[in-house]
Amino acid sequence: MTNEQVRYMSENSTSKSNDTDERKVVILIRDVHKSFGENLVLKGFHMKLYEGENLVVMGKSGSGKSVMIKCLVGLMTSDSGYIEVMGKEIARLDRQTLDELRSDIGFLFQGSALYDSMTVRENLEFPMRRHKEKLGIVQDTTPLVIEALENVGLAHTMNLMPAELSGGMKRRIALARTLILKPKIILYDEPTSGLDPITAKEIIELMRSIQQKYGTSSLIITHDVDCARVISERMILLVDGVNYAEGSYAELSASTDPKVEAFFKK
Ligand SMILES: Nc1ncnc2c1ncn2[C@@H]1O[C@H](COP(=O)(O)OP(=O)(O)OP(=O)(O)O)[C@@H](O)[C@H]1O
Ligand SMILES: [Mg+2]
Repeated sequence: MTNEQVRYMSENSTSKSNDTDERKVVILIRDVHKSFGENLVLKGFHMKLYEGENLVVMGKSGSGKSVMIKCLVGLMTSDSGYIEVMGKEIARLDRQTLDELRSDIGFLFQGSALYDSMTVRENLEFPMRRHKEKLGIVQDTTPLVIEALENVGLAHTMNLMPAELSGGMKRRIALARTLILKPKIILYDEPTSGLDPITAKEIIELMRSIQQKYGTSSLIITHDVDCARVISERMILLVDGVNYAEGSYAELSASTDPKVEAFFKK
């Protein structure tokens, strides 16, 4: 990619994405490639996430959704292409700047990834210790822990161990841990997987209420068609390493393209 192209993309993305769309772009991915040996996973993927929206990315298992999200937060490096988060090009950031940027990005990992040897409270305090600069010197973390737990309806679990919680509760605690840093963007990797339909619905409702309360922009990776229907304002289908189709749930679910239809068959 030439410098000119990079500059154009950067200018294009910082506030006004194009002539017709005035919304601010908070994540921009252009032409991203990523392979593991012979395994070509992302083959020129592109997408934009606008401020305050709920965007769902669907793709079948192994299509590269988690890889894409890891490239986005700098946990993995793409082979080529351009990735920008809140106006900053990920590949050009030094450790410290990347760390600062990450404090504005909440990442709900696939599974809940709580530390089993720590109490709920300690799990929630953990990211606060890493991002002291953002939060200032917090003498007593209790009010922040309580606020985060109240947001997910689990204030009473503060002193429990993860082993004492159900799968749905763990997922909510993981969400509380993500919220404690008041992120501007939340990346959800399969937030409802492994949960029964009722608990999944509760998590989806929680995601919605968080978005309304804090105005966060959310990128939601899911297999769950019901989740996509309820939460998405816009959807992208990741097929064969590219952004194969993009639109509202209503538009995509009405498509007659066999590769698109396949997502909506029950
Ligand atoms: N660190 C790695 N080393 C080698 N191959 C990897 C690595 N991470 C992912 N892959 C491969 O990249 C491909 C995409 O993996 P990824 O985890 O992104 O899939 P996914 O779309 O998130 O699937 P799922 O829906 O099952 O979570 C897979 O073929 C996987 O084997
Ligand atoms: Mg995955």
